[in-house]
Amino acid sequence: MSVIARPRFSGYLKSLRYLWQRQHSTTVDSTRTKQENLEARQREVMARGLPKRKRIKGVSQIFLIASGKGGVGKSTTAVNLATALKIIEPKKSIGLLDADVFGPSVPLMMNIHESPVLNQDNLMEPLVNYGVKCMSMGFLIDEKSPVVWRGLMVMSALDKLVNQVAWGPLDYLVIDTPPGTGDTHLSLIQTLFIAGALLVTTPQKVALEVTRRGANMFKKLNIPVAGIVENMSSVTCPKCMTEVPLFGNATLSLAKELDVDILQKVPMHESIAESSDSGKPIVLVAPKSRQAETYRELAERVVAFLNKQEINEE
Ligand SMILES: Nc1ncnc2c1ncn2[C@@H]1O[C@H](COP(=O)(O)OP(=O)(O)OP(=O)(O)O)[C@@H](O)[C@H]1O
Ligand SMILES: [Mg+2]
Repeated sequence: MSVIARPRFSGYLKSLRYLWQRQHSTTVDSTRTKQENLEARQREVMARGLPKRKRIKGVSQIFLIASGKGGVGKSTTAVNLATALKIIEPKKSIGLLDADVFGPSVPLMMNIHESPVLNQDNLMEPLVNYGVKCMSMGFLIDEKSPVVWRGLMVMSALDKLVNQVAWGPLDYLVIDTPPGTGDTHLSLIQTLFIAGALLVTTPQKVALEVTRRGANMFKKLNIPVAGIVENMSSVTCPKCMTEVPLFGNATLSLAKELDVDILQKVPMHESIAESSDSGKPIVLVAPKSRQAETYRELAERVVAFLNKQEINEE
């Protein structure tokens, strides 16, 4: 069997090699030096470029919430920002995409536990709560079952959450991303027109180091960075309500180094954690609280930033 298969296999390899060379080879010009030929090859590869960035039909602006470290408050920020945007801009339509395929938080934090239905165009209808259109991997799988997937499956799930959902019309689509600067971020950045990114960090050195990496990734890939949210930077004394700083002001040094603003400082407060856990964001559960005001201010600053960015008219 293997004797018969071998010649066929080598023929197959030859044709593969031929096809690859046809697609990838740059004509080597003997009048040029090796270096010049190499540079010509690099120019050719660059011209072929990254995958084309697409727009989501009917979505005006996409805004990413990211950070290097896990557990710094990205999802809390994304959920409160999306609901605060709806409060300060009630006529605008807001979406929230949970791009954390392995650890979705939006079902719990937005108190949505149903499954989406398909419309006549075979697109999933986002589930709406508090006036925000939401989509999450958590709506599609059993909440208790672990997601044990390899990279390609994650990419295809992400593609479904982005492109097979009836998002439009939306003014702002907030995307909550998983920790790190991995495949999910690259895939979103390379395939979508992102109006801006918000970096969430806690003020500890370990978190700031990775935030720097995240910021540099966005800068390299030409995604405007709206600024930094310094989360859990201080704790509010429950008796006298004084803000007690927990760490130094290293976030400010990083913001200066990156040339971005600290858009908001969010103190650590049990009401924020409790409201997230109960599925009702603090901006709704205690709208008059200092914490809610903090998120509304953040939303106003994000809108001011997005007003200066390109809008998708499609
Ligand atoms: N300002 C805050 N005050 C009190 N608790 C907070 C605050 N911000 C976030 N938390 C709590 O910290 C925990 C982690 O927050 P969250 O899930 O938003 O982080 P994350 O960065 O999205 O995590 P992951 O990287 O796992 O996705 C949650 O229990 C949340 O309620
Ligand atoms: Mg999260």
